Amino acid sequence: MAKSTKQRAESPLTPGAPVPQHIGIIMDGNGRWAKARGLPRAMGHRAGTKNIRRVLEEAVRLKIQVLTIYAFSTENWGRPRAEVGHLMRLISQSIRDELDELDANGVQIRHSGRLSGVDPKLAEQIRAAIERTKHNDTIVLNVAFNYGGRAEIVDAIRHIMRDGIAPDEVTEELISRYLYTAGLPDPDMIIRTGGDYRLSNFLTWQAAYAEYYSTPTYWPDFDEAELQQAVAVFQGRDRRFGLVK
Ligand code: FPP
Repeated sequence: MAKSTKQRAESPLTPGAPVPQHIGIIMDGNGRWAKARGLPRAMGHRAGTKNIRRVLEEAVRLKIQVLTIYAFSTENWGRPRAEVGHLMRLISQSIRDELDELDANGVQIRHSGRLSGVDPKLAEQIRAAIERTKHNDTIVLNVAFNYGGRAEIVDAIRHIMRDGIAPDEVTEELISRYLYTAGLPDPDMIIRTGGDYRLSNFLTWQAAYAEYYSTPTYWPDFDEAELQQAVAVFQGRDRRFGLVK
């Protein structure tokens, strides 16, 4: 991946201060980005998809280990049919176009969400991308697709019950192991673009102690400098995890 020297020179980061291990991003504002330019919403989603690569590359430079992106929620099925179809095609096309390079750059693809109810061909593409990249270790790109935080907890409880786990054995650690994100660290920071202050059913369990950051910038415009700025804000936060320092 190309090195960026320009952003480095003006970096707002504090050298030596920890960066988040895991960042979750709610990529909001694609539609408004398009509308502001007199374009159809679909063009906003296209620009938003393109932006994932730019932010992923900067995340690698910043040594972030896991990036979870909210690509499609369980609620997004309620959008107009044409928009849902467009988003599905974009995801499928991105896997086709980007997988070789992601793999060559050591990106491990993971999926959080339900594959039931997804077009079987797309589900198979996703499974194949996960399988192909599972030993990569530059960064984990965890795609929250057909994802809902509550659905995830429901799925975990069903799984726990099917496994016959006794009530006394149910702990926070056990539940974490039954979530889609099993094995990944909890997100240290949730970034939301597009200006709203909502979690929108994203990483509901995992984000319990995440630092929250909202920017008015629409997702397609959220660039390397914006990610650095978010991380710089994180570095300035006092994380107490319910304790007294
Ligand atoms: C929110 O913008 C964005 C989404 C619901 C979809 C985000 C999806 C992508 C960027 C494509 C994902 C692609 C891959 C390859 C993972 P919005 O439509 O709600 O914007 P608005 O609030 O301005 O209307």
